[in-house]
Amino acid sequence: MVGRAVAAHCASLGDEVLACDHAALDITDAAALGGFFERERPEAVINCAAWTDVDACQSNPERAFLVNTLGPENLAVNCRRRGALLVTLSTDYVFDGEKEGFYTQRDDPNPQSVYAAAKLEGERRAQAASARTIVVRTGWIFGEGGRNFLSTAVRRVLAGERLKLIRDAYGTPTYAPELAARLRRLAERDIPGIFHVVSGGEGASYEEFVQSALTGLAHDRALLESVSFSSLQRPAPRPVNSRLACLLSEALGMKPLPHWQEGLKDFVARTLTSVPSGGISIN
Ligand SMILES: NC(=O)c1ccc[n+]([C@@H]2O[C@H](COP(=O)([O-])OP(=O)(O)OC[C@H]3O[C@@H](n4cnc5c(N)ncnc54)[C@H](OP(=O)(O)O)[C@@H]3O)[C@@H](O)[C@H]2O)c1
Repeated sequence: MVGRAVAAHCASLGDEVLACDHAALDITDAAALGGFFERERPEAVINCAAWTDVDACQSNPERAFLVNTLGPENLAVNCRRRGALLVTLSTDYVFDGEKEGFYTQRDDPNPQSVYAAAKLEGERRAQAASARTIVVRTGWIFGEGGRNFLSTAVRRVLAGERLKLIRDAYGTPTYAPELAARLRRLAERDIPGIFHVVSGGEGASYEEFVQSALTGLAHDRALLESVSFSSLQRPAPRPVNSRLACLLSEALGMKPLPHWQEGLKDFVARTLTSVPSGGISIN
């Protein structure tokens, strides 16, 4: 999801973009990466690749660490060797969720799941392997392509399925195209460190997030059940609060990203289309 948005944004600005999917380049394959860097000599690498199935990571730590820890490290090693800048994505899940309010770079990570632990170690190893590394933590991303919580939830409700919505777990929804633009901007600034990048606003609960997307769409409200965070048992633990704020972006003169509700309006307008029966379909 983010990779497509980044490739589209960079191409729209006239960058020479080499967008690689998993089949084209496996970030766990050191030899393939070495060959790629030798051949292509990128000036900057924006790493959006990851194993993002949080529950599946929980039962397969080996693969989680291979992709989410060694992958970014491999990229950083090659970036350092070739004098390239690395921007690599990480997650709000590196925090345990116990804090009230927003997590900043002053807060100590305390990952609660295999996915989160692997991502945190990926941040650290990438930074250790190349000083010219920018780590970007983000969360609750919505946008076109890939799997994302919001599209899945909306699609299920529009298809008439029941949906449980957590009312008391909070995050900062982030619109993929806005995130993509900020990733490129950060690459341009070339200031190493950890950045928290999320859409503007005060964040939201899952329930508010999904209900905002459904506003204005014909759906059966009776399908929506409001539940508490503690009532859902999932294989991998998630933080109950993972809202992010950044200490650096504004200090560097970068404005907050537009409010997530603005992004949501754009996303809904782009991905929801009327069907002849007068119903709604989601792409
Ligand atoms: N989505 C969110 O809400 C969210 C929140 C916080 C942080 N993030 C982070 O943001 C980044 C982008 O997330 P996303 O939502 O865009 O994820 P996504 O849609 O799942 O995309 C991840 C991509 O990485 C590819 N990939 C997996 N293993 C790979 C490997 N070994 N080598 C190369 N490519 C590989 C996947 O390909 P296959 O599917 O073909 O394997 C997939 O195309 C990730 O770092 C993620 O941890 C996401």
